Amino acid sequence: MFGALKSWSPSSPKYMALQDDLEVDLQLRPRIASSPIDSRKFIILQFLPWMLTTFFATISAYLILSARNVPKCNDNFSTAYATDFGPAKSAIEFQEVKFNGGPSFYENKTLYIPNPDPIKYVGEPSAQIDQSWEDLTDNRYILITEEEARDTWGEEYVEFWDPYRGGYEVGLDVFHTLHCLNNMRKMFYPDIYPARDTPDTRLHRDHCIEQLRQYIMCSGDMTPIPTRYFKSVDRNYVDSDRVHTCRNFQMLRDWTTERHHGISAVSAIFQSTN
Ligand SMILES: *[C@@H]1O[C@H](CO)[C@@H](O)[C@H](O)[C@H]1NC(C)=O
Ligand SMILES: *[C@@H]1O[C@H](CO)[C@@H](O)[C@H](O)[C@H]1NC(C)=O
Repeated sequence: MFGALKSWSPSSPKYMALQDDLEVDLQLRPRIASSPIDSRKFIILQFLPWMLTTFFATISAYLILSARNVPKCNDNFSTAYATDFGPAKSAIEFQEVKFNGGPSFYENKTLYIPNPDPIKYVGEPSAQIDQSWEDLTDNRYILITEEEARDTWGEEYVEFWDPYRGGYEVGLDVFHTLHCLNNMRKMFYPDIYPARDTPDTRLHRDHCIEQLRQYIMCSGDMTPIPTRYFKSVDRNYVDSDRVHTCRNFQMLRDWTTERHHGISAVSAIFQSTN
């Protein structure tokens, strides 16, 4: 709060710059101060920018302070957005995470990954890698109560009744998008994960690309990524292993697993079919 105010105080460098400009300006016009009347004008002229600046600084400080009293969109990343699933909001917590997996160069110019994720998600396919992805994305469709369905989707909720699951099923988008990414990973290894090249497969693949595109654009992560100089190759290269502000994924995963088959799981209500 005071940080915002302080940046508008007369001692800020921005304000000093204005004053410097003013002094330079006045030095160029020394004759203005020659007569008494001119002198009064000069005083007003000298103080007018100060008065205007103080006026705008006060207005700005007021606007900044009053804006802080209403919930701002960007305060909700760590709490919850209106569009997050209501009952899951308690599981939303932010944390700073240093990314890993960025490439680097050995002295012999060979590219390598200095800090791979301790859990293996990439590389030559293996049962272990498949399991790592499974752990991220399995049990992601949960049943919710009728009341939760109505609160979430309004009167449209009736369209989401699933007669085969006997409930209102919901998946949370982080898991759906991870599943998309895993599907794309598998497409690089058609011998191991054979997929028929049908219009449906291509449509599904394009859906995944579109999903990831929108997901990334939606998150709008503006973490600065530097480029580091590597002597061996005499060039700079992106250093993507930076600290990002994230939602604590484990909390989201645990919440969803609990709602899937823990004590808070919603049971299916099978409608009588006769
Ligand atoms: C942010 O949270 C507040 C309070 O929970 C809520 O009223 C508001 O709609 C949320 N804003 C967004 C953009 O989700
Ligand atoms: C380059 O150096 C690394 C580390 O010293 C080594 O593991 C790798 O085999 C080398 N690669 C080549 C092509 O010499």
